[in-house]
Amino acid sequence: MRIIGTGSALPEKVVTNDMLAGFLDTSDSWITSRTGIYTRHLLSKETLGELAITAAQAAIESSGLEPSDIDYLICSNVANSYVSPSLGSIILAPLGCSCPCFDLNGACAGFLYSLDIADAFFKTKRAKHILIVAAEEPSRFCNWHERETSVLFGDGAGAVVLSDEEGFLDFRVTADTHTDVLYYKRSLETTPYDRVEEKTMPLVMQGREVFKLAVRACIKDVDMILEKNNMTGSDIDLFLLHQANLRIIDSIREHLDQPKEKFPTNLQKYGNTSSASIPILMDELSRAGELKDGSTLMLSAFGGGFVTGAAITKWTKIEYKQEENQ
Ligand code: ACO
Repeated sequence: MRIIGTGSALPEKVVTNDMLAGFLDTSDSWITSRTGIYTRHLLSKETLGELAITAAQAAIESSGLEPSDIDYLICSNVANSYVSPSLGSIILAPLGCSCPCFDLNGACAGFLYSLDIADAFFKTKRAKHILIVAAEEPSRFCNWHERETSVLFGDGAGAVVLSDEEGFLDFRVTADTHTDVLYYKRSLETTPYDRVEEKTMPLVMQGREVFKLAVRACIKDVDMILEKNNMTGSDIDLFLLHQANLRIIDSIREHLDQPKEKFPTNLQKYGNTSSASIPILMDELSRAGELKDGSTLMLSAFGGGFVTGAAITKWTKIEYKQEENQ
């Protein structure tokens, strides 16, 4: 399969580190030195559904297709204010699509999981065109009185349209149970029979453990998928990694012994937007003309579970209507 259209959308509200230091015991220097993050966009007056629709519309428009051409919609989302219906169902009709859809919770690796499933749909001839929308509001999982987690995240949506053509070379997805290091727990309604006490827990993260797991897992995925395809890091033109933390990306880059220019980042502006981070980065780079025709991209992400995903794709240039490629 091949990516033939991209789109993204960020909330209007920009929150700087200094703004956070106004009500949290933190500072711009702590946040930038530990994470690389300077600002994040947070939902204020928009809904996540609206962001998802804007990103998806941009992706469909750049693909040259009509919404009615989409055979399947996969929506990557960890959680939003609706438990049911799915976010996919909520955005489907406003987009003008009338295809089957479902939500997929692959945490921050949800975009890679969605790609892997889309690939299976193409291979089994279930679809000719698939829309993936990764839309996330992780800022809504955090306790905003706690500095440990709230400074790390931002909200956003990224989308791609895929078609049944040559492009992706390979995928690798993994999962393991490490519930204690990273979780967000919502309590459901009680019943007269329920005897297990449940408590809502805003996002809990063992930062150092997650850091180590993320670096180890990403390096393993990248090494294994390269080896399987008889490639080395030098065969990859750009590494589009999950935008969680600049230090995580730097550790992975050092292990792979590849130049900094091959690891584009935008987490400085957006923070960690969970599964939306790679499609947002991809859309920005593609619209800026920085994804060269025929170049080889490595995508890799990791997240709560612990889940990981990696993929290698050849890039085919996308023509965008209103913006000029640089
Ligand atoms: N501002 C100021 N001080 C803080 C803050 C903050 N926002 N948060 C924590 N601190 C304090 C801690 O309380 C601790 O204080 P203490 O020494 O008095 O106990 C001190 O800073 C140092 O804490 P460390 O844990 O040593 O800081 P570290 O260098 O490990 O950085 C961080 C913490 C940034 C969370 C790091 O562990 C990390 O990046 N982990 C990975 C987080 C991540 O990226 N998660 C997302 C990936 S998975 C996914 O995307 C879902």
